[in-house]
Amino acid sequence: MHFHKYEKIWLIFGILSLAVFLSIVGFTAFAHGHEPAGGMDIIDPEKVNETAPFNKPGVRQIDENRYEVVVVAQAFGYDPSEIKVPAGKEIIFTLTSTDVVHSFTIDNTKVNMMAVPGRITHKSYTFDKPGKYLVLCNEYCGTGHHFMSTEIEVYEP
Ligand code: CUA
Repeated sequence: MHFHKYEKIWLIFGILSLAVFLSIVGFTAFAHGHEPAGGMDIIDPEKVNETAPFNKPGVRQIDENRYEVVVVAQAFGYDPSEIKVPAGKEIIFTLTSTDVVHSFTIDNTKVNMMAVPGRITHKSYTFDKPGKYLVLCNEYCGTGHHFMSTEIEVYEP
């Protein structure tokens, strides 16, 4: 097989750029300590109500600086319906779904969690400012999808 000189240059350029870009991705992921997304824990979606911690959805204090918020997403709302957490503390959200895929997306933050039946998702977040934060479902989940929302009240500790 014969390659034209320009074809060879172009091939080498392509392979080299691929190697460079993949190394950059690999290197930055390693340098920033990226990990695969949560959601590796499994749960029986039909037994969510009996399985800890989802048998008691709500806010609980883990220690002085950490709180856990256990949320069950289902068509078309979230349990608990009221979430109140302090500002400036680490909040660990633990989420699952009993029916279809939903999301738990906190407006104006970086929190955008998937609620997947059969899976448990975790996300840690610290609210800097007190106030009310809107939570929306951004995965189309049925006719009531656009009503699926709640609010987090962040108070001054
Ligand atoms: Cu739940 Cu869309």
